[in-house]
Amino acid sequence: MFRTTTCGELRGSDNGKVVTLAGWVDSARDHSGVFFVNLRDRYGKVQTVFYSTMADSSAFELVKTLRNEDVVQITGTVRLRPEGLVNPNMPTGEIEVEAEKLVILNRSEVVPFIPSAPEVPSEEMRLKYRFLDLRRPEMQRVLVLRHKMTKVMRDFFDEQGFVEVETPVLGKSTPEGARDYLVPSRVSQGSFYALPQSPQLYKQLLMIAGYDRYMQIARCFRDEDLRADRQPEFTQLDIEMSFIEMEDILTMMSSLVQRLMKDVLGRELTLPIPRMTYDEAMERFGHDAPDLRFGMELKDVTDVAKETEFKVFRSTADSGGRVRGINVKNAADSFSRKDIDGLTSWCADQFGAKGLVWFKVDADGKLTGSSAKFLAESDLEKIAAKLEAEPNDLLLFSCGDFLLTCRVLNGLRRRLAAQLKLYDPNEMNFCWIVKFPMFDWSEEENRWVAMHHPFTAPLAEDLEFLESNPGRVRAQAYDLVLNGFEAGGGTIRIHDAETQNRVFALLGMTREEAKGQFGFLLDALQFGAPPHGGIAFGLDRLVMLFAGVDNIRDCIAFPKTAKASDLMTGAPSPVAEKQLAELAVKVDLKQVEKNS
Ligand code: AMO
Repeated sequence: MFRTTTCGELRGSDNGKVVTLAGWVDSARDHSGVFFVNLRDRYGKVQTVFYSTMADSSAFELVKTLRNEDVVQITGTVRLRPEGLVNPNMPTGEIEVEAEKLVILNRSEVVPFIPSAPEVPSEEMRLKYRFLDLRRPEMQRVLVLRHKMTKVMRDFFDEQGFVEVETPVLGKSTPEGARDYLVPSRVSQGSFYALPQSPQLYKQLLMIAGYDRYMQIARCFRDEDLRADRQPEFTQLDIEMSFIEMEDILTMMSSLVQRLMKDVLGRELTLPIPRMTYDEAMERFGHDAPDLRFGMELKDVTDVAKETEFKVFRSTADSGGRVRGINVKNAADSFSRKDIDGLTSWCADQFGAKGLVWFKVDADGKLTGSSAKFLAESDLEKIAAKLEAEPNDLLLFSCGDFLLTCRVLNGLRRRLAAQLKLYDPNEMNFCWIVKFPMFDWSEEENRWVAMHHPFTAPLAEDLEFLESNPGRVRAQAYDLVLNGFEAGGGTIRIHDAETQNRVFALLGMTREEAKGQFGFLLDALQFGAPPHGGIAFGLDRLVMLFAGVDNIRDCIAFPKTAKASDLMTGAPSPVAEKQLAELAVKVDLKQVEKNS
């Protein structure tokens, strides 16, 4: 046998056992005449000890040559550590293995960083030497947790009668949504496949095909700007169900979340998960994925602003904008004028804010600050009352159109809560957001675009406004929010060709264009499509939140950088002329230069 035990499992009760271990040299220390080697594998670490008096003297010579990350096999006897040398911080800390034999299985070059060192190497080094980074116990913890989560998901849906069906990775490019990754076809030259942004249409077709309850752990690809919670290649837990309504999906997915909390984290989650409409979330928190672990809600003072002579407030209110603010409790003395100027320029850079109006609350409860002199005493009192101001509070206001005030105050709210440690980082705060608008007006494209995707069903009571007032039509859409992140989203789908055609028309597609792009779906909708709907959870994001790490890259074995490249393999990379010729593809170097 290569090994009789792993490095994490030996305890005091194993005293006297003869064992063979195999693993990586985590550390090797010479204590004149006694050599300690800590051996590591993914189950843990164990201390082995070599004495100069050991029977196999060549083993003692060999152990002196060991370096970090050499791979070795050690046979020896488990001994209780002497009194006072027990290490309570190590699960195997009660024992050590007195070595009798050492086999070097493979030598390691000097490593660019030591996986078990307490300091985390730079992100660049970690990604370049990912195989070493993945040896770090923290990375192994997260990847094992990820495995557990997908296992719980598969078990849960299997018990509920779901069928996992794989859908194609080489698909058709569609105009809606993010930018596609394209793959040129060699056989049909000049034509391209698109990698799926999600299995959306396939899962709907599976419902039309009668599969009723579908699930898939599906890989998705989106060529979009990356952030800490986004990767170009990511994984969804993808669900679709027939003969259901929104309630059925929310109930099913809430039970899954409860099960994940219990089986993965050992924590209870009381159902139901609270719900909030999109309108309420935007009004109270300025974002459709609000972080509900702390208060600091947005308060509207537009009606006060309308009556004042203070120009910034008055002109915003007169031009149909909003004046809204947040109360940073008991923080006035922690923010100097310079700090507030810093926040103001951050809001300008990040969100295009023209400025921030601020007040500090003095010991008598009165608002002070450079803008206070422009406002009547009675207006200041009304503002103080609306924001429930108390001595030493800091009040920050944003003026502008509704969405600008949302962006600015949501940004400030999150930043300040993190800075002032206003929440428990271990809390898991779930919420469903419902009743989203169907469409967004795109200034850039000068047309309506689907807020979720074009296959989303409108709320029945809003269907009549589809052509006359698209802005007021709400969708049968729902998102799951966890600690201020969108963990998942889904919708009830349109299941008749007539409504689907109306939505395509509203999105600016002619009948011919719709047929050209989505003919297969429009056809299928005419051959007995059941009412259906579904949802997808972002698996990587969910793992990130369950594992308590703050970057999605730490939850993916081989992630991409912010520039969508893989520092280890060097992908993406130029390819041979011959490969391009086979595909009839030419690289336009002038364009490359222009774009870079
Ligand atoms: P949506 O586009 O909202 O819906 O995606 C579902 C969830 O996937 C996660 N997600 C991402 N995670 C990491 N990196 C990305 N680039 C990324 N983009 C999205 C988010 C998001 O909530 N087909 C629909 C689902 C449906 O209607 O059933 C869809 O893909 O957590």
